[in-house]
Amino acid sequence: MFALRNAVRGQTSVLARGYASAAKSQTLKERLSELIPREIENVKAIRKEHGNKVLGEVTVDMARVTYGGMRGIKGMIWEASVLDAEEGIRFRGLTIPECQAKLPAAPGGTEPLPEALFWLLVTGEVPTAEQVKGLSAEWAARGELPKFVEDLIDGCPNTLHPMSQFSLAVTALNHDSSFAKAYAEGTPKKDYWKPIYEDSMDLIAKLPAIAGRIFQNVYGNGKVPAIDPSKDYSWNLANMLGYGDNAGFVELMRLYLTIHSDHEGGNVSAHTSHLVGSALSDPFLSYAAALNGLAGPLHGLANQEVLRAIYKMRDAVGENPTDEKIKEYVWDYLKTGVWPGFGHAVLRKTDPRYTAQREFGLKHTPNDPMFKLVEQIYHIVPNILLEAGKAKNPWPNVDAHSGQLLTAFGFTQQNYYTVLFGVSRALGCMSQLIWSRALGLPLERPKSFSSEKIKEICSKM
Ligand code: MLT
Repeated sequence: MFALRNAVRGQTSVLARGYASAAKSQTLKERLSELIPREIENVKAIRKEHGNKVLGEVTVDMARVTYGGMRGIKGMIWEASVLDAEEGIRFRGLTIPECQAKLPAAPGGTEPLPEALFWLLVTGEVPTAEQVKGLSAEWAARGELPKFVEDLIDGCPNTLHPMSQFSLAVTALNHDSSFAKAYAEGTPKKDYWKPIYEDSMDLIAKLPAIAGRIFQNVYGNGKVPAIDPSKDYSWNLANMLGYGDNAGFVELMRLYLTIHSDHEGGNVSAHTSHLVGSALSDPFLSYAAALNGLAGPLHGLANQEVLRAIYKMRDAVGENPTDEKIKEYVWDYLKTGVWPGFGHAVLRKTDPRYTAQREFGLKHTPNDPMFKLVEQIYHIVPNILLEAGKAKNPWPNVDAHSGQLLTAFGFTQQNYYTVLFGVSRALGCMSQLIWSRALGLPLERPKSFSSEKIKEICSKM
């Protein structure tokens, strides 16, 4: 059934290919060592059978393609997830509700653990609870920062944007890169994935300590709690933000880190880490570059824009506005602006990441006034956008909800929100980086033209 569903959706997970399943106690690296040679053969077979087939065209209608942000060009391999315009993201073939149902949760919790999601992204397989526990312990054990990185963060003025501090600290981790060392020592190409794996695990493990330190320096008392090796990754992150004893917030972090982890390869952060990694820059340098892209208002900063728009609306229409008042406000707003959080470069339906957060809100924050406003907007804005003919996709995306959930728990430091996205997105980017090196993917170097050259080429067609 699982294999059939994936085949229908056009994404085949490792599991669906029918590889013998992992031994229950295997570590992630042991499992990867088994899967990589088989995947290399699988890719060889795909290329042998389909190598000459045409996936799509880059049309003469360059306004849409070359001048239009390369939308729709099929030009990347991304193993961990595929985005369907109608139904949204599938992580290795599994939808978000399927992940919620199948991936191990923490004792007493219901949301999937991001550790489990990472295992799924890397292997295509659902891990056992024991394997997930092992990953939590391994990340906790790798989680401490080198002293000079702590000092580097502490030396940042608290007026430096949290994302700039984040990217700075991640870049500095390259000081201890296993891959950079192995490359300098002449490690054979077929073994590149091993130090890339070590660096990826170190990077992911250290992100809560970086994120926690930035948060405490900028918004708190500068004191960061130590990692508790008996707890999971999200609990440790929440604890460093001052929310270790808030079970709802810890669950929110588990959900948040899971759903923001990956959104196929073409989004700015994923594509950047892929591109920079293809130059054989190590995972720290690749991911720092990705974070700089995530820091853009059209990417990871978008949930702040959403909150800003909602606050502005609340100021104008007051608390508990009627639907009519909101409609009037939105119509007026659309005369000069774009309503943030609605529409998406690929999606043409409500983002399932929005739906997952909405369900979380219904369960944990139903009486939050902002939740009620977000709900009203959800029921009102798509119809207005449709009627106004303003959007190809009038439905909400992930950013339309995430800010509300954070504020509902009193986490109101909006400038910091993208850092949480950055912790999560590492899971997807690193799982691909491991596979990129395992499969020997080459340096990424697309062809470009000047506008004059395009004119010259097209005039001869
Ligand atoms: C993302 O999660 O990266 C955003 O939805 C943007 C995208 O997919 O292009």
